[in-house]
This record gives sequence, structure tokens and C-alpha cells, in this order.
Amino acid sequence: MSDNSAPFSRHKKLERNVTLLAVATLITVAIGGLVQITPLFYLDNTIEKVEGMRPYTPLEQAGRDIYIREGCYTCHSQMIRPFRDEVERYGHYSLAAESMYDHPFQWGSKRTGPDLARVGGRYSDEWHVQHFKDPQSLVPESIMPQYGFLAETDLKIADPAAMLTALSRVGVPYTDHDIEMAQADLIAQADPDVFEEDLLDRYPKAQIRDFDGDPSRVTEMDALLAYLQMLGTLVDVNSAAAQQELAEETGR
Ligand code: HEC
Repeated sequence: MSDNSAPFSRHKKLERNVTLLAVATLITVAIGGLVQITPLFYLDNTIEKVEGMRPYTPLEQAGRDIYIREGCYTCHSQMIRPFRDEVERYGHYSLAAESMYDHPFQWGSKRTGPDLARVGGRYSDEWHVQHFKDPQSLVPESIMPQYGFLAETDLKIADPAAMLTALSRVGVPYTDHDIEMAQADLIAQADPDVFEEDLLDRYPKAQIRDFDGDPSRVTEMDALLAYLQMLGTLVDVNSAAAQQELAEETGR
């Protein structure tokens, strides 16, 4: 015992002195923290920019707010993880840039229903309307609640300009013109008869149509569908991911 203890005698001192142990622990943990945090200060950006990503249109953003209000995130995630089974089922894994304008993000932590990150364009508007009114009529074993009331409820956004202003304060790059046009854009996207020339210039790939099958008014269903039908359609993921990988290999 006395033979072995010699090399550890200094360590013994450390273990028996609480103050010394606390200080040494703090230093050790601080080194670990620095190793993780310091490199972040030398990166320009932690999110790789990808082509195609743009801020949401006022109608999509309104739909997103309904998605949050109705608690859809308690059953649905919006993040496809880079595992084979997920990629085969839902499509290309999610890129960080695809949720860069999400405040708050909707990655979710539980999947009672399927992931929705790339649900845009997978079903017709009619399918969605029927599914929201009566999910069990399409998927008999579904436990998803009915949301038919969304089609009966007029979309009321007190101040669309304020909605975009708030987002621009946290870094979403809406221009003054976008904010000025918020109310007009909101109506124009759900009504193909209102032709607003630069909506598509400012929001490329925005889908402009009556979504809920009732062109006479803009309902919460219109907004929710505008949001869902856009999910995962903005970025050409295959080329974006290829660019990203190339950038990583060549060190940018
Ligand atoms: C209680 C859990 C629950 C809630 C809350 C819920 N869902 Fe679902 N959802 C499901 C389940 C389970 C399915 C799979 C069966 C089906 O298609 O109905 C599903 C399916 C879906 C699908 C079809 C996805 C696909 O790829 O087939 C969409 C779209 C959807 N939900 C959207 C929503 C939206 C939007 C909301 C909020 C308004 C919502 N869900 C709320 C459980 C839920």
C-alpha cells in the first residue's frame, strides 16, 4: 500500500481538500467549455446558406401561427433526421437553413403522427381539407382530431404588418416594402383573381390559389394549407446538400 501510494500522494491532497477540489473541477470544466465554445466565435455563421430559402409569405406565416395555436407540434415533428429509415420515408434529411426563419422552430420532440417537414405537395388541397374535416374518413385508424372548423373561420390577423415587423426585429429579412404590402399579400395569395404583380418576385415559389375550395373568402384553412403545401418545397435539397458537402470537403 505504501509503495503504491507515493505517486498518488499529490492527488490525495486534492481529494481531501474540498476547496482545492472545487477549484480544480471548475478549471477542468472551464477548459472543456472553452474547447466547445471558442471555435463558434471564429465562424461567420453556424448555418450554411442554401439557395431558395426565403422568409414566409404573410399567408404562410399566418398558417404557421395557426399550426402553433392548434398544437399540431404536439403530435408532429418537422425535422427529418439523417437516418436511412427516415430519409426513405420522408425524403432528404432536414438542413439547418430550412428552419432559419422559424421563430420559434417546429422541430418537435414527439411523433404521434408523421413528420411534416416535407409534406408540401405530397397531397392535394382537397385531400387535406377532407383530412382536416374528418381524418378517419381517409385513414380509419387515425387518432388525429378533427379541424373542420378552420374552414368555417375567417382568417383574422389584426395587423399583418406588425406580424412581419416583429419577425424582422429578430432577424428575418423582410424589407420595408414587404411590411407595407403585408395585408395586400395576405389576401392576394389566397385569391387568384386579385393579381398582385410582385408577390412572386418577392416570395419565389409562393403558391397562389384558393386552397380550401371556397373562393368567396379567406379562411384559417387557406392559411394553414398555404403553410403546409410550402413545407419542404423551397430548397432544392439534393443540389443544396451536394453544394454543402462540396463546401465542407474543400474547406469552403
Ligand atoms: C393527437 C395527435 C395529432 C394532432 C394534435 C394532430 N395530428 Fe396530424 N396526424 C396525426 C396522426 C396519428 C396522423 C397519421 C394518420 C392520418 O393521416 O390521419 C396524422 C397525419 C397528418 C397529416 C398527413 C401526413 C402524412 O404525411 O400522411 C397531416 C398533413 C397532418 N396530420 C397535419 C396536422 C396539423 C396541421 C395539425 C394541427 C392542426 C395536426 N395534424 C394535429 C396525429 C395528430
